[in-house]
Amino acid sequence: MKNLILSFIILISTPGMGQSQTFQNGMVVSAHPKASEASIEILKKGGNAMDAAVSVQFVLSVSLPIAGNIGGGGFLVYRSADGNYDALDYRETAPLKASRDMYLDNSGNPVGQLSLYGHLACGVPGTVAGMAEAHNKYGKLSWQEVIQPAITLAENGFELTAAQASELNSNYQKFLKWNPEGTAFTQKNDWKEGDLLVQTELAQTLKLIQKHGSKGFYEGVTAQYIVNEMSKNNGLISLEDLKNYKAIWRKPIVGEYKNYKIISMPPPSSGGIALISLFHSVEDYPLHQYGFQQDKSVQLMVEAQRRIYADRAVHFGDPDFHNVPIEMLLNKENSMKRMKDFSFEQATPSTAVSAGNYSHPESFETTHYNVVDKEGNAVSVTTTLNGAFGSFVVVENAGFLLNNEMDDFSIKPGEPNLYGLTGGEANAIQPGKRMLSSMTPTIVEKDGKLFLVIGTPGGSTIITTVFQTILNLIEFNQNIEEAVAAPRFHHQWLPDEVFVEKGAVPQQVRERLNQKGYKFVSKSPWGWVDGSWGRVDAILINEDGSLSGGADPRGDDTIEAY
Ligand code: GLY
Repeated sequence: MKNLILSFIILISTPGMGQSQTFQNGMVVSAHPKASEASIEILKKGGNAMDAAVSVQFVLSVSLPIAGNIGGGGFLVYRSADGNYDALDYRETAPLKASRDMYLDNSGNPVGQLSLYGHLACGVPGTVAGMAEAHNKYGKLSWQEVIQPAITLAENGFELTAAQASELNSNYQKFLKWNPEGTAFTQKNDWKEGDLLVQTELAQTLKLIQKHGSKGFYEGVTAQYIVNEMSKNNGLISLEDLKNYKAIWRKPIVGEYKNYKIISMPPPSSGGIALISLFHSVEDYPLHQYGFQQDKSVQLMVEAQRRIYADRAVHFGDPDFHNVPIEMLLNKENSMKRMKDFSFEQATPSTAVSAGNYSHPESFETTHYNVVDKEGNAVSVTTTLNGAFGSFVVVENAGFLLNNEMDDFSIKPGEPNLYGLTGGEANAIQPGKRMLSSMTPTIVEKDGKLFLVIGTPGGSTIITTVFQTILNLIEFNQNIEEAVAAPRFHHQWLPDEVFVEKGAVPQQVRERLNQKGYKFVSKSPWGWVDGSWGRVDAILINEDGSLSGGADPRGDDTIEAY
C-alpha cells in the first residue's frame, strides 16, 4: 500500500513521466521544470553533461530565486565517461574585512541576526567563477550558448509554481526590509500560481556574464553594483574581494562500501567524508536483513550519525586554513572503532560520545541537480544561497540575490550561536576563508561502472539524507522513485534527538527504541513541526546502461530525458 501511495505521488509530480521509465541518451533532474527543460535541450543539441550543468545553474538563478543563484556558491562533482573524477569548489569566502568576532557585541554576545539577514551576512559569491571554470575545463558548446536559456527566461519571464508564489508572499516583508520597493520579487498584490516573474535587471547582468565571462561579474559594472550595494549598507564585500575570488579544483573524496565506490565532495564540505564514514560504520552489519526503518537498522544508522556529527563539529573547516584529518576520518578501522561502544541494548548518550564542540545546522534552502549525457559523463551539483532567498539583499540595478553564507561559519566558536548551538574553532571566521558546508553532491559506481548521481538540499540533514537514499536503493530493495520519496530520519549528535519526517520510523519501532533511550521528535532540526526536509534528485544507471530518474515529490523537482 505504501508503495502504491509513493507511486501515485511520483506520477503526479513528474508530468509526462511514468514510474520506472527508462531513457537511453541523457537525463537532467533539477528542482525546477524550466531548468530541466532548458538543459535537456542543451544535451539534445550536442552539448555534454557539463554544458547542461552550467546551463542549469544559470537557469536556476532565474527560475528558482529561493536557492538557485549567481550570488551564492556551490560544489560540483564530475565523473567522465572513462572513469576520471574531479571536484570543483565554488564556495563563498569571507570578505577581507571580515573578522572572527564580527557578529559579537563588546560583551562577546551575538548581535541580533547579523549573520542571517542583510549585507553583513553575505560571503563573496563563487557561482559565476565556478561555472566559468567548469565550462572552460570540460564544456563543449560555447559559453554564449549555455547561458542563453537563462537570459531568455529572465527577459520573458516564467510562470510561478504554487509553492513559489507562496514563498514570495510569505517573505514579502523581508524583501521590503532589505531593499527599496521595486525589486522583481515584490508586487502590491499577492503572487498567485501562474503569475509571470520577469527579471529585466538580472537579464542584463547575465548578458554581461555571457559577453565577458567571469569578468562580467567580478569586474566592471556588476562588481561596482555589488560594491555600491555594500557601501551604502555597511556591507564588507570590496572590489578586491571580487577580483581575488577563485573557484578551486579539488581532489574528490573517494571511499568504498561493498562493491560500490562513493565519489563525493571534499572540505570545505563535510559531506563527502561524513558520508563515507557513515557507510564504513554500518558496512559490517547485515542492514538488508534488519530491514527498512526497523529497530536495528534505525538504531545502527542513528548511532553512526551521532558519532560522525560529533567529529564534524571538531575537525572540519576550510582545508586551506585548517588541517582537516582527512585520512583518519576516511579510515574504516577508525569508523569501526568509533562504533565499538555501541550496543543494541541501549542508546549511547551524546554526552558520552565526545566532549568536542557542536556544529550549528545550516538552514534549509539549497538546491541540487544532476546530469548524465549520452557518452556517460556525469555531473552532480549542489548550490546554495544558504537560507531561503539568502540574505534577502537584491543587488540594486543588477537584479540578483546575495547569499547569507556567513552564517555557516561558527560565529562564536565554543559558545551557543543564534540557534542555541555551538561550533568549532576550525570553522571560525577568517578573511578569505570558506565556511564549512554539508553539501554532498555524490556519484556512485557499482563494480566500476557509473551507477548513481545524487544529492539534496537540507542543511545539516543533507548528509544523512544522501546516506539513507543510497541505502534504500542498495540494501532495502527500493526502486529509485521509492528511495527518493521514502520518509527520512536524522541525528546530528546534539541535540540528542532523532528527528523524523512524517511517516518515517513506524510507531511501534519508535516505542521500542524509546525504551532504550532514543527520543524521537516529529520536526526538522530547524524546528518545522511535521515538516519534511531535503529534495533528493537522482539519476540511476541501470544494468543495461539505460537511465531512470528520481525527482523528489516534496518539491517542484522535475526529470527531463530522451
Ligand atoms: N548552506 C548550506 C550548506 O552549505 O551546508
